[in-house]
Amino acid sequence: MKYLNFKNGNKMPSIGLGTWKSDKGEVGKAVKIAIKNGYRHIDCAAVYGNEAEIGEALSEVLKEGIIKREDLWITSKLWNNAHKSEDVIPALKQTLKDLQLDYLDLYLIHWPVAFKPDVANPEKDEDFLSLEEAPIIDTWNKMLEAKKEGLTRHVGVSNFSATKLKDLLSKTEDGPEVNQVELHPYLQQNSLIEFCSKNGIHLTAYSPLGSGDRVDAMKAADEPSLLENKVIQKIANKHGASPAQVLINWNTLRGTAVIPKSTNEGRIIENMESTGVNLDEEDLKQIASLDEHFRYVTGEFFVTKGNSYSDIYDEQ
Ligand code: A2P
Repeated sequence: MKYLNFKNGNKMPSIGLGTWKSDKGEVGKAVKIAIKNGYRHIDCAAVYGNEAEIGEALSEVLKEGIIKREDLWITSKLWNNAHKSEDVIPALKQTLKDLQLDYLDLYLIHWPVAFKPDVANPEKDEDFLSLEEAPIIDTWNKMLEAKKEGLTRHVGVSNFSATKLKDLLSKTEDGPEVNQVELHPYLQQNSLIEFCSKNGIHLTAYSPLGSGDRVDAMKAADEPSLLENKVIQKIANKHGASPAQVLINWNTLRGTAVIPKSTNEGRIIENMESTGVNLDEEDLKQIASLDEHFRYVTGEFFVTKGNSYSDIYDEQ
Protein backbone atom coordinates (compact mmCIF):
# COMPACT_ATOMS: atom_id res chain seq x y z
CA MET A 1 0.00 0.00 0.00
CA LYS A 2 1.21 3.48 -0.85
CA TYR A 3 0.76 6.46 1.46
CA LEU A 4 0.57 10.21 1.05
CA ASN A 5 2.85 11.86 3.59
CA PHE A 6 1.95 14.91 5.65
CA LYS A 7 4.41 17.45 7.07
CA ASN A 8 3.93 16.20 10.64
CA GLY A 9 4.71 12.61 9.65
CA ASN A 10 1.12 11.37 9.39
CA LYS A 11 0.34 9.14 6.43
CA MET A 12 -2.90 8.80 4.44
CA PRO A 13 -3.32 5.39 2.74
CA SER A 14 -3.58 6.01 -0.98
CA ILE A 15 -6.60 3.73 -1.48
CA GLY A 16 -9.72 4.43 0.55
CA LEU A 17 -13.30 3.16 0.48
CA GLY A 18 -15.73 5.69 -0.99
CA THR A 19 -19.16 5.83 0.68
CA TRP A 20 -21.08 8.32 -1.48
CA LYS A 21 -24.18 6.51 -2.77
CA SER A 22 -23.61 3.54 -0.45
CA ASP A 23 -27.09 2.73 0.77
CA LYS A 24 -28.18 2.45 4.35
CA GLY A 25 -28.29 -1.21 5.30
CA GLU A 26 -25.28 -1.85 3.05
CA VAL A 27 -22.66 0.71 3.95
CA GLY A 28 -21.87 -0.70 7.41
CA LYS A 29 -21.26 -4.16 5.96
CA ALA A 30 -19.10 -2.65 3.22
CA VAL A 31 -16.94 -0.81 5.76
CA LYS A 32 -16.42 -3.98 7.79
CA ILE A 33 -15.57 -6.04 4.69
CA ALA A 34 -13.16 -3.33 3.58
CA ILE A 35 -11.35 -3.16 6.91
CA LYS A 36 -11.13 -6.96 7.13
CA ASN A 37 -9.52 -6.89 3.67
CA GLY A 38 -6.83 -4.35 4.35
CA TYR A 39 -8.53 -0.99 3.83
CA ARG A 40 -7.46 1.58 6.42
CA HIS A 41 -8.94 4.69 4.82
CA ILE A 42 -12.69 5.40 4.72
CA ASP A 43 -14.05 8.48 2.98
CA CYS A 44 -17.29 9.85 4.45
CA ALA A 45 -19.43 12.99 4.39
CA ALA A 46 -22.35 14.27 6.44
CA VAL A 47 -24.45 14.77 3.31
CA TYR A 48 -24.17 11.11 2.29
CA GLY A 49 -26.66 10.44 5.08
CA ASN A 50 -24.96 7.23 6.20
CA GLU A 51 -22.40 8.30 8.80
CA ALA A 52 -24.35 6.81 11.74
CA GLU A 53 -24.27 3.34 10.14
CA ILE A 54 -20.56 3.74 9.34
CA GLY A 55 -20.05 4.73 12.99
CA GLU A 56 -21.72 1.48 14.14
CA ALA A 57 -19.43 -0.54 11.87
CA LEU A 58 -16.31 1.30 13.03
CA SER A 59 -17.29 0.88 16.65
CA GLU A 60 -17.71 -2.88 16.11
CA VAL A 61 -14.37 -3.44 14.37
CA LEU A 62 -12.62 -1.35 17.00
CA LYS A 63 -14.32 -3.28 19.82
CA GLU A 64 -13.51 -6.61 18.20
CA GLY A 65 -9.86 -5.52 18.16
CA ILE A 66 -9.57 -6.07 14.39
CA ILE A 67 -7.94 -2.68 14.13
CA LYS A 68 -6.83 0.18 16.38
CA ARG A 69 -8.19 3.70 15.89
CA GLU A 70 -4.71 5.07 15.20
CA ASP A 71 -4.33 2.69 12.25
CA LEU A 72 -7.44 4.06 10.53
CA TRP A 73 -7.71 7.17 8.36
CA ILE A 74 -11.22 8.63 8.50
CA THR A 75 -12.19 11.59 6.32
CA SER A 76 -15.45 13.53 6.48
CA LYS A 77 -16.79 16.74 4.97
CA LEU A 78 -18.58 19.88 6.07
CA TRP A 79 -21.89 20.26 4.24
CA ASN A 80 -22.69 23.47 2.40
CA ASN A 81 -25.32 24.60 4.89
CA ALA A 82 -22.82 24.82 7.75
CA HIS A 83 -20.32 27.32 6.32
CA LYS A 84 -21.17 30.09 8.74
CA SER A 85 -18.45 30.44 11.40
CA GLU A 86 -20.75 29.43 14.24
CA ASP A 87 -21.92 26.29 12.39
CA VAL A 88 -18.60 24.66 11.45
CA ILE A 89 -17.57 23.12 14.76
CA PRO A 90 -21.10 21.94 15.68
CA ALA A 91 -21.32 20.23 12.26
CA LEU A 92 -17.98 18.51 12.84
CA LYS A 93 -19.07 17.43 16.33
CA GLN A 94 -22.28 15.93 14.90
CA THR A 95 -20.19 13.95 12.39
CA LEU A 96 -17.93 12.72 15.20
CA LYS A 97 -20.99 11.68 17.18
CA ASP A 98 -22.44 9.83 14.17
CA LEU A 99 -19.12 8.14 13.39
CA GLN A 100 -18.60 7.36 17.12
CA LEU A 101 -15.12 8.87 17.00
CA ASP A 102 -13.17 11.36 19.15
CA TYR A 103 -11.35 12.84 16.18
CA LEU A 104 -11.21 12.72 12.39
CA ASP A 105 -8.04 12.31 10.39
CA LEU A 106 -9.18 14.76 7.74
CA TYR A 107 -12.07 17.23 7.55
CA LEU A 108 -12.83 18.91 4.23
CA ILE A 109 -15.01 21.82 3.14
CA HIS A 110 -17.20 19.77 0.78
CA TRP A 111 -17.85 22.51 -1.84
CA PRO A 112 -16.87 26.16 -2.28
CA VAL A 113 -20.58 26.94 -2.05
CA ALA A 114 -22.64 28.10 0.93
CA PHE A 115 -26.35 27.44 1.50
CA LYS A 116 -28.48 29.07 4.14
CA PRO A 117 -28.31 26.99 7.35
CA ASP A 118 -31.81 25.55 7.06
CA VAL A 119 -31.41 24.52 3.40
CA ALA A 120 -30.35 20.96 2.61
CA ASN A 121 -30.83 21.13 -1.17
CA PRO A 122 -31.17 24.55 -2.78
CA GLU A 123 -33.82 25.29 -5.37
CA LYS A 124 -33.75 29.06 -5.74
CA ASP A 125 -31.31 31.99 -5.41
CA GLU A 126 -32.56 32.78 -1.90
CA ASP A 127 -31.41 29.36 -0.69
CA PHE A 128 -27.75 30.39 -1.03
CA LEU A 129 -25.53 32.65 1.03
CA SER A 130 -23.47 34.99 -1.11
CA LEU A 131 -19.68 35.02 -0.95
CA GLU A 132 -19.97 38.23 1.09
CA GLU A 133 -22.39 36.64 3.57
CA ALA A 134 -20.24 33.54 4.05
CA PRO A 135 -16.64 34.36 3.04
CA ILE A 136 -14.72 31.13 2.53
CA ILE A 137 -11.83 32.45 4.64
CA ASP A 138 -14.15 32.63 7.69
CA THR A 139 -15.20 29.01 7.15
CA TRP A 140 -11.55 28.07 6.65
CA ASN A 141 -10.44 29.79 9.86
CA LYS A 142 -12.98 27.69 11.77
CA MET A 143 -11.59 24.55 10.12
CA LEU A 144 -8.15 25.56 11.44
CA GLU A 145 -9.65 26.13 14.88
CA ALA A 146 -11.18 22.63 14.79
CA LYS A 147 -7.74 21.24 14.00
CA LYS A 148 -6.20 23.19 16.87
CA GLU A 149 -8.87 21.81 19.21
CA GLY A 150 -7.91 18.27 18.18
CA LEU A 151 -11.26 17.48 16.52
CA THR A 152 -9.44 16.64 13.30
CA ARG A 153 -5.78 15.95 12.58
CA HIS A 154 -5.78 17.56 9.12
CA VAL A 155 -7.98 19.97 7.18
CA GLY A 156 -8.64 20.53 3.53
CA VAL A 157 -11.17 21.29 0.84
CA SER A 158 -13.02 19.52 -1.93
CA ASN A 159 -14.09 20.61 -5.40
CA PHE A 160 -11.77 23.63 -5.33
CA SER A 161 -10.32 24.90 -8.63
CA ALA A 162 -6.76 26.30 -8.76
CA THR A 163 -8.34 29.78 -8.89
CA LYS A 164 -10.26 29.19 -5.66
CA LEU A 165 -7.22 27.63 -3.98
CA LYS A 166 -5.09 30.60 -5.01
CA ASP A 167 -7.63 32.99 -3.56
CA LEU A 168 -7.77 31.07 -0.27
CA LEU A 169 -3.96 30.76 -0.07
CA SER A 170 -3.67 34.53 -0.50
CA LYS A 171 -5.73 35.00 2.68
CA THR A 172 -4.16 32.46 5.04
CA GLU A 173 -0.74 31.30 6.19
CA ASP A 174 -2.14 27.86 6.80
CA GLY A 175 -3.76 26.51 3.64
CA PRO A 176 -5.58 23.28 2.80
CA GLU A 177 -3.56 20.08 3.14
CA VAL A 178 -5.78 18.15 0.73
CA ASN A 179 -8.10 18.96 -2.17
CA GLN A 180 -10.52 16.16 -3.07
CA VAL A 181 -11.70 16.42 -6.67
CA GLU A 182 -13.05 14.33 -9.52
CA LEU A 183 -10.08 12.66 -11.26
CA HIS A 184 -10.00 9.89 -13.86
CA PRO A 185 -8.74 9.39 -17.42
CA TYR A 186 -11.56 11.53 -18.92
CA LEU A 187 -10.77 14.36 -16.46
CA GLN A 188 -7.03 14.28 -15.82
CA GLN A 189 -6.73 17.82 -14.38
CA ASN A 190 -2.99 18.08 -15.05
CA SER A 191 -2.73 21.80 -14.33
CA LEU A 192 -4.60 21.45 -11.02
CA ILE A 193 -2.29 18.58 -10.06
CA GLU A 194 0.73 20.75 -10.87
CA PHE A 195 -0.65 23.69 -8.89
CA CYS A 196 -1.39 21.48 -5.86
CA SER A 197 2.00 19.83 -6.01
CA LYS A 198 3.77 23.23 -6.07
CA ASN A 199 1.75 24.35 -3.07
CA GLY A 200 2.15 21.18 -0.99
CA ILE A 201 -1.51 20.16 -1.33
CA HIS A 202 -2.34 16.46 -1.69
CA LEU A 203 -5.12 15.37 -4.02
CA THR A 204 -7.74 12.68 -3.54
CA ALA A 205 -9.51 11.37 -6.65
CA TYR A 206 -13.27 10.90 -6.40
CA SER A 207 -15.51 9.13 -8.94
CA PRO A 208 -12.44 7.22 -10.17
CA LEU A 209 -14.63 4.55 -11.80
CA GLY A 210 -17.06 6.95 -13.44
CA SER A 211 -19.62 6.91 -10.68
CA GLY A 212 -22.11 4.78 -12.62
CA ASP A 213 -24.55 4.51 -9.70
CA ARG A 214 -25.40 8.23 -9.61
CA VAL A 215 -29.13 8.94 -9.80
CA ASP A 216 -30.34 9.38 -13.38
CA ALA A 217 -31.06 13.07 -12.81
CA MET A 218 -27.30 13.62 -12.44
CA LYS A 219 -26.40 11.79 -15.64
CA ALA A 220 -26.01 13.11 -19.16
CA ALA A 221 -27.88 10.83 -21.60
CA ASP A 222 -24.75 10.12 -23.63
CA GLU A 223 -22.12 10.09 -20.88
CA PRO A 224 -19.07 7.96 -21.66
CA SER A 225 -18.35 4.85 -19.57
CA LEU A 226 -14.87 4.55 -18.10
CA LEU A 227 -15.19 0.89 -17.16
CA GLU A 228 -16.26 0.06 -20.73
CA ASN A 229 -13.65 2.21 -22.46
CA LYS A 230 -11.87 0.07 -25.08
CA VAL A 231 -8.37 1.39 -24.24
CA ILE A 232 -8.86 0.74 -20.52
CA GLN A 233 -10.25 -2.73 -21.26
CA LYS A 234 -7.32 -3.57 -23.53
CA ILE A 235 -4.78 -2.48 -20.91
CA ALA A 236 -6.69 -4.48 -18.28
CA ASN A 237 -6.58 -7.62 -20.46
CA LYS A 238 -2.86 -7.14 -21.05
CA HIS A 239 -2.20 -7.19 -17.29
CA GLY A 240 -4.77 -9.85 -16.41
CA ALA A 241 -6.49 -7.15 -14.34
CA SER A 242 -9.97 -5.61 -14.34
CA PRO A 243 -10.76 -2.17 -15.82
CA ALA A 244 -11.49 -0.89 -12.29
CA GLN A 245 -8.05 -2.02 -11.14
CA VAL A 246 -6.42 -0.16 -14.04
CA LEU A 247 -8.35 3.03 -13.20
CA ILE A 248 -7.45 2.85 -9.51
CA ASN A 249 -3.80 2.04 -10.21
CA TRP A 250 -3.56 4.94 -12.68
CA ASN A 251 -4.57 7.37 -9.91
CA THR A 252 -2.16 6.01 -7.33
CA LEU A 253 0.68 6.07 -9.89
CA ARG A 254 0.03 9.78 -10.32
CA GLY A 255 0.60 10.24 -6.59
CA THR A 256 -2.99 10.95 -5.59
CA ALA A 257 -5.19 9.11 -3.14
CA VAL A 258 -8.25 7.42 -4.65
CA ILE A 259 -11.57 6.40 -3.12
CA PRO A 260 -13.48 3.86 -5.27
CA LYS A 261 -16.96 3.21 -3.88
CA SER A 262 -18.32 -0.30 -3.64
CA THR A 263 -20.74 -2.15 -1.41
CA ASN A 264 -20.02 -5.50 -3.09
CA GLU A 265 -17.58 -7.81 -1.29
CA GLY A 266 -15.86 -9.12 -4.43
CA ARG A 267 -15.42 -5.65 -5.89
CA ILE A 268 -14.23 -4.12 -2.59
CA ILE A 269 -11.49 -6.78 -2.53
CA GLU A 270 -10.78 -6.42 -6.26
CA ASN A 271 -10.31 -2.68 -5.89
CA MET A 272 -7.76 -3.08 -3.08
CA GLU A 273 -5.92 -5.66 -5.18
CA SER A 274 -5.25 -2.97 -7.80
CA THR A 275 -1.99 -2.39 -5.94
CA GLY A 276 -0.67 -5.48 -7.74
CA VAL A 277 -1.14 -3.97 -11.23
CA ASN A 278 1.93 -2.38 -12.81
CA LEU A 279 0.98 -0.01 -15.61
CA ASP A 280 3.89 0.67 -17.96
CA GLU A 281 4.96 3.73 -20.00
CA GLU A 282 2.97 2.66 -23.03
CA ASP A 283 -0.21 2.17 -20.94
CA LEU A 284 0.26 5.62 -19.40
CA LYS A 285 0.74 7.17 -22.82
CA GLN A 286 -2.47 5.62 -24.09
CA ILE A 287 -4.43 6.66 -21.00
CA ALA A 288 -3.05 10.22 -21.29
CA SER A 289 -4.71 10.47 -24.69
CA LEU A 290 -8.17 9.80 -23.19
CA ASP A 291 -8.51 13.22 -21.49
CA GLU A 292 -11.79 14.83 -22.61
CA HIS A 293 -12.25 17.31 -19.74
CA PHE A 294 -15.41 15.37 -19.06
CA ARG A 295 -17.03 15.72 -15.62
CA TYR A 296 -19.50 13.21 -14.21
CA VAL A 297 -20.18 15.61 -11.34
CA THR A 298 -20.98 18.90 -13.01
CA GLY A 299 -21.96 20.88 -9.93
CA GLU A 300 -24.99 22.10 -11.89
CA PHE A 301 -27.19 21.37 -8.91
CA PHE A 302 -25.71 24.42 -7.16
CA VAL A 303 -26.33 26.86 -9.93
CA THR A 304 -29.48 28.93 -9.85
CA LYS A 305 -29.75 32.06 -11.91
CA GLY A 306 -28.10 34.96 -10.15
CA ASN A 307 -26.39 33.28 -7.19
CA SER A 308 -22.67 33.72 -6.50
CA TYR A 309 -21.64 30.32 -7.76
CA SER A 310 -22.36 30.26 -11.47
CA ASP A 311 -18.88 29.01 -12.34
CA ILE A 312 -17.95 26.48 -9.68
CA TYR A 313 -14.95 25.08 -11.52
CA ASP A 314 -13.77 28.43 -12.96
CA GLU A 315 -13.73 27.03 -16.44
CA GLN A 316 -15.86 29.54 -18.34
P1 A2P B 1 -20.93 -1.53 -6.52
O1 A2P B 1 -21.04 -0.67 -5.31
O2 A2P B 1 -22.15 -2.36 -6.77
O3 A2P B 1 -19.65 -2.34 -6.55
P2 A2P B 1 -17.19 5.59 -8.22
O4 A2P B 1 -16.25 5.12 -7.17
O5 A2P B 1 -16.51 6.17 -9.42
O6 A2P B 1 -18.29 6.48 -7.68
O7 A2P B 1 -17.94 4.30 -8.82
C1 A2P B 1 -18.82 3.52 -8.05
C2 A2P B 1 -19.56 2.59 -8.98
O8 A2P B 1 -18.65 1.63 -9.52
C3 A2P B 1 -20.62 1.81 -8.28
O9 A2P B 1 -21.70 1.60 -9.16
C4 A2P B 1 -19.94 0.50 -7.93
O10 A2P B 1 -20.87 -0.54 -7.82
C5 A2P B 1 -19.08 0.30 -9.15
N1 A2P B 1 -17.85 -0.48 -8.89
C6 A2P B 1 -17.06 -0.44 -7.80
N2 A2P B 1 -16.00 -1.26 -7.93
C7 A2P B 1 -16.15 -1.86 -9.14
C8 A2P B 1 -15.39 -2.82 -9.85
N3 A2P B 1 -14.28 -3.33 -9.34
N4 A2P B 1 -15.84 -3.21 -11.07
C9 A2P B 1 -16.98 -2.70 -11.60
N5 A2P B 1 -17.74 -1.78 -10.98
C10 A2P B 1 -17.33 -1.36 -9.76
